Amino acid sequence: MLFSTTSTLFFAVVSVQALQYVEPFTATIFAPPSDYIVPRTLYARTLRLANDDNVILATWENYSPEPPLVYFPIYRSTDLGQTWTHVSNITDQVNGWGLRYQPFLYEVVEDIGAFQAGTILCAGNSIPTNLSNTQIDLYASTDKGYTWTFISHIAAGGEALPDNGLTPVWEPFILTYDHQIVVYYSDQRDPDHGQKLVHQVSSDLINWGEVVDDATYDTYDWRPGMPTIAELPNGQYIFTYEFYGATEANFAVYYRLSDSPLTFDSAQGYVVEAVTGELPTSSPYVNWTPYGGVNGTIVVSANSHSGVFLNTELAAPGSAWTYVDTTSSRSYTREVKVMPSDNQIMLTGGGVLNGASNTVTATVINL
Ligand SMILES: *[C@@H]1O[C@H](CO)[C@@H](O)[C@H](O)[C@H]1NC(C)=O
Ligand SMILES: *[C@@H]1O[C@H](CO)[C@@H](O)[C@H](O)[C@H]1NC(C)=O
Ligand SMILES: *[C@@H]1O[C@H](CO)[C@@H](O)[C@H](O)[C@H]1NC(C)=O
Repeated sequence: MLFSTTSTLFFAVVSVQALQYVEPFTATIFAPPSDYIVPRTLYARTLRLANDDNVILATWENYSPEPPLVYFPIYRSTDLGQTWTHVSNITDQVNGWGLRYQPFLYEVVEDIGAFQAGTILCAGNSIPTNLSNTQIDLYASTDKGYTWTFISHIAAGGEALPDNGLTPVWEPFILTYDHQIVVYYSDQRDPDHGQKLVHQVSSDLINWGEVVDDATYDTYDWRPGMPTIAELPNGQYIFTYEFYGATEANFAVYYRLSDSPLTFDSAQGYVVEAVTGELPTSSPYVNWTPYGGVNGTIVVSANSHSGVFLNTELAAPGSAWTYVDTTSSRSYTREVKVMPSDNQIMLTGGGVLNGASNTVTATVINL
């Protein structure tokens, strides 16, 4: 079987080489069948595996008809996002409610409790079909996304509607800081705030510390929402959020800078606005790439624009944000990821709010 041995060897050689650079592209990760319920798909998230530059996992809010209860599908790409295969579903193993909204994927970067570096985490909102409860739960995969196990409950909230006076929790985001895992989320449970942003910390992924504020406003119905964070090369962290209550526009995109990602509440908020006047609003996502000079480049995406907002001055107050268009269509909470070739970013979207024809797409662009 000389031929088959040769082709196996050839395949092995190819598979260990990082692609590094790919020509810019847009790929459809998932186009839902016609029986999916509007908005069909939304809120896409990805994870590029640390030890294999070419492997990316993706998931999203998946509005499949029930039963079975909704779940977070996991799709896998081995060619930096150009083609995708459905490898697993994360299903609700504990509540009997389904995994409905706001998944977030993360790879553990150092051993945490019993979980080794390389463990894949998925935090998301478990919500019953009748939307009576919200529950941010944590699942883990020790085989790179093929199988999943429930790990812990992080935060429990009330009815899954964004009305002031109701008490849901929303939109988890995960970061490692000081050998602990931090989960950030939006929180409507505090009677003093229609919504605020908070975090909880864990050193074992099982037990979660107290709820700590990250953004609160004195006016009850001013609502900061949808936190995302990136670490900057000067040691600071940038924290972006949408801000209902902003003077510039409803849901204007704001950011805060802090030397510690645990103390955003005492940091001042600044609006993101391009020097050419574009004002991003709603569901921002921030990331940072080393590309673009000594400070690298901060990249912010928002629901309002197909383009992205760039800052090469570490987002220092008063520094310039520039707006550049992209070949990606806009999406509600479109994600920004940095590719192995750091002049490239991937924008992943699940479509727009109430979109009747949403699909999940990934677009790689050159900055
Ligand atoms: C995911 O779940 C759906 C609905 O139960 C099922 O049709 C599909 O085969 C599952 N896919 C995988 C990869 O588990
Ligand atoms: C909503 O669904 C949950 C979970 O199935 C159930 O426990 C609860 O009774 C339902 N609430 C209403 C008001 O129907
Ligand atoms: C890097 O950022 C600092 C802080 O904002 C700024 O003063 C400096 O001009 C930036 N450097 C470049 C090359 O843009």
